[in-house]
This record gives sequence, C-alpha cells and structure tokens, in this order.
Amino acid sequence: MPGSIVTVLGARPQFVKAATVSRALAAAGLRESIVHTGQHYDSAMSAVFFEELGIPAPTHHLGIGSGSHGAQTGAMLAAIERVLVESRPDAVLVYGDTNSTVAGALAAAKLQVPVAHVEAGLRSFNRRMPEELNRIATDHLSTWLFCPTATSVRNLAAEGIGAAGDRIARQVCEVGDVMFDATRHFGALAAERARVGGSLELEPGSFVLATIHRAENTDDHSRLVRIVEALRRLAEAQRVIWPVHPRTRKQLASGEAGSLGEVEAIDPVGYLDMLWLERHARVVMTDSGGVQKEAFFAGVPCVTVRDETEWVELVESGWNRIAPPDGSCDLAAVVDAATPGDPGFAPYGNGDASRRIAETLADEG
Ligand code: UD1
Ligand code: UDP
Repeated sequence: MPGSIVTVLGARPQFVKAATVSRALAAAGLRESIVHTGQHYDSAMSAVFFEELGIPAPTHHLGIGSGSHGAQTGAMLAAIERVLVESRPDAVLVYGDTNSTVAGALAAAKLQVPVAHVEAGLRSFNRRMPEELNRIATDHLSTWLFCPTATSVRNLAAEGIGAAGDRIARQVCEVGDVMFDATRHFGALAAERARVGGSLELEPGSFVLATIHRAENTDDHSRLVRIVEALRRLAEAQRVIWPVHPRTRKQLASGEAGSLGEVEAIDPVGYLDMLWLERHARVVMTDSGGVQKEAFFAGVPCVTVRDETEWVELVESGWNRIAPPDGSCDLAAVVDAATPGDPGFAPYGNGDASRRIAETLADEG
C-alpha cells in the first residue's frame, strides 16, 4: 500500500519546485494531496504556475493571504493542523524557507507526522532574514532532509543534524536541486511556448533581467533607492526588463524610491516566460534565491544584490558576484562587468533530484 503525503506550499518558488516533485511522487506510487496556504494569491503569483506546469490542483486552499509574520504563520498553523488531523498522512512535505514551510513543518511535527524538507541545509548565517529562521526551525523538525548541495549537508552536520552521534532518527540525503530538474524538464516547453520575447521585441543577449523582492531590500528605503538608481543608469545604455514582485510594486508606487527612467517594469511573468528571459538575458541582477541558480543553469552571469548568499558555490565558481546595495560598490558597474564563470561547473546534481526524493519516501511507505 503506497504511503500518503500531504504537501504544504503557498509561495511562487514552491510551485516551481512542486512541478517536478509532484510528478515524481505520483510515478513512485505515492498518494499526494496539496495544501495551498494562500500565501501568494495573485493570479500571476500562483494560478499561472498550476496552469502552465500541470501541478495537481490543491485539495485544500486555506486562503490565508498576507499579514505580519506571526499573524500569517499562526493562521497557517491552525488551518494546516485541522487538515492533518482529518487526513492523517504518513508524511508532510515542505519546500524551501517561507512562512508556509515552517507552518507546515511545525503543524506536522506537533502531530507526530514525519516531515520531509526539500531544499534542506541552506544557510545565509544572517538571522535578520525571516527565511533563515524558517530554514533552521524546519530543518530541526524534519525527518527527511533532502539537500541540494554538499555545502548544505555540511551546514546541517555543523548543527548536529546527521552528524556522528546524532541521537535523533532522521535521514540527510544529498539529492541535487529540484529547480535544476524543473529547468531541464520545462526548457523545451519554454522555448516553444514563451511569448515574452516576441511581445517585448527583445533581442537575445542584449538585455539586463532584474528581479527584486527581499524584505531587506524593498523595506529599506536607502537600499531600494540604490537599486532603482542602478537599474535606471543601466537602462540608459541597454534594455532592462524588470518583472516586479507585488511586495516591490507596493514600495515603488509612492515614487519615493526615485524615477525608473527607461527601465521596463512589467508584471510578474509565468515560469516559461521567465525561463526564456533568463536564457536570453546578457546578465541577471537579482536578490532571488531561485533566480540566482536559474541564471547559472541558463549560462548567464548573475549579480546578487544582497549582503550574502546561501548558494555559495556559484560565487566560488565565478558565475555569481555579491553586490550589496549599501553604498559599498557601484552596482551598475558590477552588473556591466559581469562575465560567465567556470563552464564545467555542475554542483546541483544530475537533474534527478525529484525522482530520488520520491523513491526515498516510497521506500519508507
Ligand atoms: C515570500 C517569502 C520569501 C520568498 C518569496 C518568493 C516569507 C517570509 N517570505 O516573500 O522567502 O522568497 O515569498 O516570492 O515567507 N503580495 C501580493 N500578492 C501576492 C502575494 C504577496 O500583493 O500574491 C504582497 C502583499 O502586500 C504582501 C507582500 O506582497 O504583504 C509580501 O508577501 P509575503 O508572502 O508575505 O512575502 P514575500 O515578499 O512574497
Ligand atoms: N519567477 C517567475 N516569474 C517572475 C519571477 C520569478 O516565474 O516574474 C520564478 C523564477 O523563475 C523561479 C522562482 O520564480 O523559479 C523564484 O521565485 P522568487 O524569486 O519569488 O523566490 P525565491 O527563489 O527568492 O525564494
């Protein structure tokens, strides 16, 4: 009898990760129900991914929406608990580091339902980031810790998880990165179906692609002003395409971050269009975790507008450079100077992370 899994998700990057993992769970004979917390709810932040990527429709939609960290996470916790009490799955699966992740993990662990964490072991070592707190809590609550990289396995060992003498029954598995699986799985479809290149009349290899949404950038006025200024300067000499996250759109609406000049600030795009933009950009400037990796998968250099990154191997291999928007560097100049890194570098597995996760869970079912 195959095991039953409840997957708890709610934010954009989790839909992308679920696109290949849900397929693999079904192929391994596991019964999966998806619980959507409603953390992201705009059609361009949620529905478009389910439609384009064929993710199974959620069995429960909790409709929690936005709120302060405590209010949002607390509302999720109560609602997820009700679903788990009713459905009693064999395991709960969560992705990444959002409030939906930690709410799913805590609700499950308190009910003695084992937790599988996909993208375990990532650390920025910056505890001012809400995501870092979510990662630490989720990893320590999990039974299966599916790590994307060797670094993430080491980070867990440094906290005693899966290290010699660990007294808790749990499994740390380095499986590779499920976003790499997704890029490979949907690459051909993106080439065929993406419309953004045509609709914006973009010339491949000629534009800067930007995404910005981290609270540390959007909610800090001086950092956001520097980012906008850098993009505006870049747009004087080339096209700059910026699909704007709703958190950032709110901050830009007041106009206090300064003029966008020629920057093309567009609505968030679907994943297939995003893959096209990444593949054909000259350079990517971002504070997104997923987009840093996808730039590398596309063979495009990346500038990360943060003080640090969890994906340290991309910096070491020359594909990514850290450019904090704190006045310590000329952001536009760093973007203009960015070049590709080591062409033979392949730290994110073989594109079979989703299958390995599903097979590990099925073996336990
Ligand atoms: C969340 C995650 C972050 C992840 C990001 C992916 C947390 C703490 N943060 O950040 O780790 O990188 O998702 O995109 O979980 N909003 C809308 N429409 C939506 C969704 C959000 O208008 O569909 C606006 C609301 O004003 C909301 C704000 O964006 O208050 C922030 O949304 P929230 O989900 O709290 O955090 P993100 O910044 O999206
Ligand atoms: N993404 C997208 N459209 C956009 C911006 C991002 O499809 O307009 C995708 C991107 O390709 C990646 C994921 O969303 O797969 C990354 O999500 P995000 O940057 O919101 O979160 P993070 O990875 O930083 O947690």
